[in-house]
Amino acid sequence: MKRVFNFNAGPSPMPLEVLEGMKEDLTNFKNTGMGITEISHRSKEFQDMLDETKALLRQLMNLSDDYEIVFIQGGGTMQFLMTGYNFLHTRAAYADTGVWAHKARNSAAFFGEVYNANSAEDKNYSYIPDTCEIRPDTDYLYICANNTIYGTEYWKFPEVDVPLIADMSSDILSRKIDFNRFDMIWAGIQKNLGAAGVALAIIKKDLLAKARTDIPEFLQYNIFVKKDSTYNTPPVFCIYSLNRMLHWIKNMGGLTAIEERNKVKAKLIYDVIDESDGFYKGHAEKASRSRMNVTFNLANADMEKDFVAKAKENDFIGVKGHRLVGGLRVSLYNAVTPEAAETLAEFMKEYERVNG
Ligand SMILES: Cc1ncc(COP(=O)(O)O)c(C=O)c1O
Repeated sequence: MKRVFNFNAGPSPMPLEVLEGMKEDLTNFKNTGMGITEISHRSKEFQDMLDETKALLRQLMNLSDDYEIVFIQGGGTMQFLMTGYNFLHTRAAYADTGVWAHKARNSAAFFGEVYNANSAEDKNYSYIPDTCEIRPDTDYLYICANNTIYGTEYWKFPEVDVPLIADMSSDILSRKIDFNRFDMIWAGIQKNLGAAGVALAIIKKDLLAKARTDIPEFLQYNIFVKKDSTYNTPPVFCIYSLNRMLHWIKNMGGLTAIEERNKVKAKLIYDVIDESDGFYKGHAEKASRSRMNVTFNLANADMEKDFVAKAKENDFIGVKGHRLVGGLRVSLYNAVTPEAAETLAEFMKEYERVNG
């Protein structure tokens, strides 16, 4: 069977053992004689799986009972809209750290006033600003915890006295943090946690109490809570894939073990960049470097194109930078193995030796 080294930014690899383990469930889930994509979302088997998925999230994230967990279709982009629609009453603050925060802010602008609490635009989004300015009557501060495109990540979260909402699509469950300090966390699961098609939203009950109830039902977080994510037919397979990934993370030793593994992988690639004497130019400032998305440039666009082509010849897929910023990007999500990172690091050193 062919498997490449997959460094795609999302959708992203899943562990081979998780994929292999799904085989039987595709034809006979829990001995129902039906596959996971064939069972009813009103069945006990689905409900048990949904309950278990939420319980695993609570356990792995050490979440208090103050939170509700829901699963919503429409990916991250739907969450840009729903966060604003539900929680923006007067004005909302957005930390300006890149493309995904802009998209969230622009979606929320339909529902009220939005403003930048800070901005990293002055240095082409290569860092996370460490201060935030919050205006009176601000409903929430919204941050993007890991900037998938620019390769920057929060290592210290803002301390503010308004609700804090975080998009963790590209670093959820990649490290141990205090999740209980957020009022809402949401994440598309297609990078660290499973198959594209669903976002998870973890929302504090206090914040839910402030959500609008005069908007279409399907866009209300409270309806998703009330209907336990089954207001309409949920993305059964995506939730199932999340369930399998959460079991995998637990079996790996939970977030402590996953964080260690992710640290090792990122260090392998950043070390090559730092020891290359400027041959590889890292985009992010060291203090804001993402462990999930390593972004860098070569001397010019032609060389970057050549790097991507040679990488592909060697079965390294997905190392081209995002179309908006160019350059190169290596995504090292949970399922990427340390061996894959090590093999790519060796390739990078060899590429530098030949072309440097
Ligand atoms: C941090 C972050 N937020 C949101 C999104 C948008 O997600 P979607 O494509 O599911 O709408 C992405 C996509 O890559 C992302 O990286």
